[in-house]
Amino acid sequence: MNVIITGASKGIGKAIAEIFASNGYNLFLCSRGEVSLYKVMEELQTRFPAITIKAKPADMSKKEEVIAFANWCLSFAVPDVVVNNAGIFHPGNVLDEPEGSLENHIETNLYSAYHLTRLLSPKMIERKLGHLFNICSIAALKAYKNGGAYSISKFAMNGFSMNLREEMKSHGIKVTTVHPGAVLTDSWDGFDNTSKRIMEATDIAKMVYAATLLSPQACVEEIVIRPQLGDL
Ligand SMILES: NC(=O)c1ccc[n+]([C@@H]2O[C@H](COP(=O)([O-])OP(=O)(O)OC[C@H]3O[C@@H](n4cnc5c(N)ncnc54)[C@H](OP(=O)(O)O)[C@@H]3O)[C@@H](O)[C@H]2O)c1
Repeated sequence: MNVIITGASKGIGKAIAEIFASNGYNLFLCSRGEVSLYKVMEELQTRFPAITIKAKPADMSKKEEVIAFANWCLSFAVPDVVVNNAGIFHPGNVLDEPEGSLENHIETNLYSAYHLTRLLSPKMIERKLGHLFNICSIAALKAYKNGGAYSISKFAMNGFSMNLREEMKSHGIKVTTVHPGAVLTDSWDGFDNTSKRIMEATDIAKMVYAATLLSPQACVEEIVIRPQLGDL
């Protein structure tokens, strides 16, 4: 079994890579920074020597790099699972966030997933088999102050994922939209989590992996996970 995970060098993407590796999947990973990406690849290969792990640096906000990454993945295998996880988060308000913030968020958080999915899907459809995960956010479900371009991009990602679910039903491809609340990753750099107020990346990874375990006729359409005490 083969899984493609974007943005796998840290945070939620890395946790998802770990859980699939520990369950025998071969991994195909990307992120922009190659040092941290190759470090994750080596770490996981040492822990899980029986699987194949490949990694390719790619800036998924750039269409030509998405195309190169997709072709590179397909040169090895047609994926059973794809996790569109790569994303950025810069808080801000519509009226005063920096110029270009919306473009930056949309290119990274939406176009990356849109283009990669379009490139990989034909081969998955031929097999009538596969599972696409789109890592969205609770910021896609409810507007909030300081959400700005990030929240807008995640609402768009949710729309993409919901449309994809409808299109993929008859092709035998599952589509799951994942809406995490606050998860302790670099996005929350400096946050004091000694009281365990916010979630761990492994919480999201466990739910993503669990959704792959159902019968072919069952599709988990949405996963909404919040901290026990609710949103911050
Ligand atoms: N943490 C949360 O509270 C939270 C809540 C809801 C949703 N999410 C979503 O979950 C996903 C992962 O978030 P995270 O908190 O784990 O973030 P993170 O720790 O900052 O990790 C983001 C990952 O994406 C990669 N990445 C960023 N821009 C990229 C690009 N243009 N091309 C390729 N890779 C790129 C990063 O590596 P490089 O920087 O080296 O490229 C890194 O591997 C995101 O979509 C985020 O919006 C997070």
